[in-house]
Amino acid sequence: QVPFTRKAPVLGFKPVPFSFEDKVVVPEGYVADVLYAWGDPVGIKGAMPAFKPDASNSAEEQALQAGMHHDGMAFFPLPLGSIGSKHGLMAINHEYTDDGLLHIDGMKTWNADKVKKAQAAVGVSVIEVEDTGKGGWKVVRPSKYARRIHANTPIAIQGPARGHALMQTEADPKGVEVLGTFQNCASGPTPWGTYLTCEENFDGVFVNDSGKLTDLEKRYGISNKDAGYKWAWEDFRFDAQLNPNEPNRFGWVVEIDPFDPKSKPVKRTALGRFKHEGATVTIAPSGHAVVYMGDDQRFEYIYKFVSKNKFDPKNRKANMHLLDEGTLYVARFDADGSGQWLPLVAGQNGLTADKGFASQGDVVIKARMAADVMGATKMDRPEWIAVHSHKPGEVYCTLTNNSDRGKDGKPGPDAANPRVDNKFGHIIRWNENGGDAASTGFKWDIFVLAGRPDADKAEHKGNIKGDAFGSQDGLKFDYNGVLWVETDVSTSTVNMKEYKGMGNNQVLAVVPETGEFRRFLTGPNGCEITGIAFTPDNKTLFINIQHPGEPDSERSDPAQPLAISSWPEGPKAGRPRAATVVIRKLDGGVIGS
Ligand code: FEO
Ligand code: CA
Ligand code: CA
Ligand code: CA
Repeated sequence: QVPFTRKAPVLGFKPVPFSFEDKVVVPEGYVADVLYAWGDPVGIKGAMPAFKPDASNSAEEQALQAGMHHDGMAFFPLPLGSIGSKHGLMAINHEYTDDGLLHIDGMKTWNADKVKKAQAAVGVSVIEVEDTGKGGWKVVRPSKYARRIHANTPIAIQGPARGHALMQTEADPKGVEVLGTFQNCASGPTPWGTYLTCEENFDGVFVNDSGKLTDLEKRYGISNKDAGYKWAWEDFRFDAQLNPNEPNRFGWVVEIDPFDPKSKPVKRTALGRFKHEGATVTIAPSGHAVVYMGDDQRFEYIYKFVSKNKFDPKNRKANMHLLDEGTLYVARFDADGSGQWLPLVAGQNGLTADKGFASQGDVVIKARMAADVMGATKMDRPEWIAVHSHKPGEVYCTLTNNSDRGKDGKPGPDAANPRVDNKFGHIIRWNENGGDAASTGFKWDIFVLAGRPDADKAEHKGNIKGDAFGSQDGLKFDYNGVLWVETDVSTSTVNMKEYKGMGNNQVLAVVPETGEFRRFLTGPNGCEITGIAFTPDNKTLFINIQHPGEPDSERSDPAQPLAISSWPEGPKAGRPRAATVVIRKLDGGVIGS
């Protein structure tokens, strides 16, 4: 636990304007350096292949290097349990691949080696990082902690779904171990020094073209088409017609101990199965661990998990199974400004065997369907959730956008999702009753409606005090009580249509007590900005630049010039690379001050 360095933060930086430049822009007095880009060696002793700019690294080499498309991440000070700010471990998600960039000739041809390389380029990196003391940070190589977890890493299944019939496959008849994690979107560190990585759009790698889809497959988006990854073409594990239960083994939160490179990661099934955006952990006054989670799809839900047992700050080992037992809840936001956490428990409140919920295993595997039964509130794509660093019990969630709200045949506006054609999204806030994260009731309000004051349509104007933005996604409080917001305007709309003139994706800071949003950073062309971590002294900020130069997935001719980005190395180097960026204040001060 980290002491707060400032009780009443004030934003001291001069905001940066909208940007149309292929670079990271920070305010005067700040510097941004690339730390760890796709293809950089993770740092395993004797196995540190260099990145080859023509994408000719093999699948085996890729499994020893940074994956693609960095997303959520966390900083863990070294040694374990300290609050140092100069040396630590970072766990970093690699959400998915852009195969147009990953292979020499992109997707022009297709084969099993390309699938293997893609499977090696997703998952998680654990790296050791250090402040050099000479104005910058570096990855420590080699490092005994260095590790890559990818789509073929053995992972244990724990919690209510372990051994369930729907988790059993030919390769794993007991349903206790799965190969891999992928589509790792947001994440969260735990107070006991582990990393929770979240499987989001897992349906995108599975195909079932039998012409028959079960209700479960339909509810989770499995269809006769994948999202373009073509894994099922070469690796039949991802053919859901042949392996109907394999998709059930994804869509979970995975816990990783970054301090023990030999430890086996664990899928914590008590936290439910959905398109997990993130997992934000806090400790309730009673000592129970509480995990807040969003399911990022249009009209999906916000969940929380409350552990049965209590967090023990003096016994790390005793916390290692805290997330296997407890109660999973889903949120209902009522029009009077109150809200309820509805328990998803087999045998209670209509979650009965005749409805398909004979056991808690059924409930967690079909968490979305259980939440439907309970009448939870269908939200405008819940992305990240942040707990106020000074006010436990005050929680914020980005609802990134939902242009289907109010369309024919779709749910109309409600109090918590008040705008039709919600192209800019909003941030919702709730206060748990009694300031207790384990409470089953809360009061809520809308913290901000994103938008632009010069919009043509009323529903796109928003009510931002300060700098304009939309499609907020990454969200985190720093140690001082400043809320940081990262945007992910999609490639199909960034600087176009309703977003025309708003430039590249951005990072903003806001002190909730004043409500003034100030633009802190803008990213290179075609990127999303995501992943955010601070050192405990709040003097180093890490962010991730994801998919710079998107879309390049259609690019199949290696001679074709890169369309819109060559970040970070510039035009001569070739391919754009997702990367972790370190931001410092030149005078050594606190970020944002
Ligand atoms: Fe991977 Fe919902 O963002
Ligand atoms: Ca996201
Ligand atoms: Ca997003
Ligand atoms: Ca993304």
